[in-house]
Formats: sequence, structure tokens, C-alpha cells
Amino acid sequence: MPESNNSKKGKKSNGMRLVLLGPPGAGKGTQAEVLSAEYEIPHISTGDILREAVREETEIGKEVNSFMERGELVPDNIVTEIVVNRVAKPDASRGFILDGYPRNKGQAESLDKALEGKKIRIDRVLYFKTSQSVIIKRLSGRRVCPKCNSIYHLKNNPPKKDEICDRCASKLLQRKDDKEDTVKKRLAVYKEAEEGLLGYYKTKNILKEVSGDLSAEKLFRSLKASFKKEGP
Ligand code: AP5
Repeated sequence: MPESNNSKKGKKSNGMRLVLLGPPGAGKGTQAEVLSAEYEIPHISTGDILREAVREETEIGKEVNSFMERGELVPDNIVTEIVVNRVAKPDASRGFILDGYPRNKGQAESLDKALEGKKIRIDRVLYFKTSQSVIIKRLSGRRVCPKCNSIYHLKNNPPKKDEICDRCASKLLQRKDDKEDTVKKRLAVYKEAEEGLLGYYKTKNILKEVSGDLSAEKLFRSLKASFKKEGP
């Protein structure tokens, strides 16, 4: 997705704390990348952090590898600790974008408890409502950069050079969990927790539904316009 003119300048956010929620392939990571550049707040993806741990064969990486390969959630305590430590870093003091966390009501409660201790809270939860046919097409064509985590799609957002990352020139890969059977499992795991998670944020009055079916550019423009009008 092309960068907006504004993203070059960046628009420093004043305390924007977002959660992006939605099924696998909804486009959370793609929007998080551009929103992070636009508002100069870090994109915190539990999926990216866990995949890096697996690649580097850290203790956590060894522990979570089999869960991820099966398309199951890794244990709540592991991801919660990762997120709590990450949001405590100085670059997240003006805000952050959580992508892929929380994943169930228990994680949402743990997050709120941890943030309460820091006297901050989530401002907005964006729910990417996305149709099944769109999800399948997106995941089958997705390619990712193992080094800088940039996200591409063979048709929707191809790299300039075949299979090579525009940003860091690494060879792009297909994620192991984008195989058809694992995608089915991930979608089922997501569905199981969706209602509880949406219900939790609805009662807090911070849930905003957006269309994950829109093109990446259209969705980005509409998010920026709504943040400008109503705040996050
Ligand atoms: P994670 O990496 O979080 O995967 P996910 O939630 O399944 O989401 P995806 O990354 O698949 O999709 P996305 O919505 O970010 O879509 P993207 O922008 O890439 O988690 C992976 C695993 O880690 C889990 O299964 C679990 O094991 C573990 N894990 C992670 N967090 C956890 C947690 N909190 N608790 C427990 N376990 C956890 O887009 C997809 C494709 O579509 C790309 O090719 C992109 O170019 C294209 N695209 C995106 N938007 C558009 C658009 N609007 N129009 C056209 N094409 C688009």
C-alpha cells in the first residue's frame, strides 16, 4: 500500500491507544503499519513478536512454535507478559497499536488490569468485519518479509521486485500458518472467542466496527478522517 503524503511527516499522536481486532487476514497488520507511520506510535503485533522468537529459537520461541504451527492460541500468560513489557517501553508512552492482542476476554481483562496500574486505558477498539471469501483470497496470496515484517499480497500489494521486500531487500516468505488446513483452524479459534471479546468492548463503549472488505487505501483514508473528526 502506498504511503500517504502525511506519513512522511508523521502526525504525532497525543495518547492514541488502539486495539485492532478481527479475523486472520482481515488486514489488521496492513492498517497497523500505515497508522503507525502516520501517528508515530509503535505497531505491536503479538504474531510478529512470537514469529521472531520462533526464528531466533529463544526459550519462548521453542515453547510457542507448536501452538502456532497448529493455528492454536499460545498460552495467555506468555502473550500477556510480552505485551505488558512491550507497552512499558518509552516509545509507547504516547500511544500504541495492538495488533492480534487481546485475543479473548481473559486477555482483554488482563490488559485492562495492567494498563490501569499505569493509569492509562485503551481509547478505541477497531473491529475489522470481513467476509470469509475475502479472508481466504488474502491469506492465500500473502507474502511477508521475515526481517522487517512488511506485508505484501501477490495481487493486491505486490513487491516491486518479484518476491523481494521493497524495504529491506530480503526474500519474501509465505507464512507457515497460511496453509489451507491451518487457516481453517485459525478461523475456528478466532470465531470461538469473537463474541466474548466484542461483548467485552461493547459494554465499555469503545468498539468501532470498520469494513475489512474495503481496499487498504480506502480503509486507511476513512480511519484517518474519523480520527480527525472524533478522535481515536
Ligand atoms: P497473527 O500474526 O496475529 O495472525 P492473525 O491474527 O491470524 O492475523 P493475520 O496476521 O493472519 O492477518 P491480518 O489481519 O494482520 O492481515 P494482513 O494485514 O496480514 O497470529 C499468528 C499466531 O500467533 C496465532 O495463530 C497464534 O498462534 C499466535 N498468537 C498471536 N497473538 C496471540 C495472542 N494474543 N494470544 C495467543 N496466541 C497468539 O493482511 C492479509 C493479506 O491481505 C496480506 O497479503 C495483505 O497484503 C492483504 N491485505 C490486507 N488488507 C487488505 C485490503 N484492505 N485489501 C486488499 N488486500 C489486503
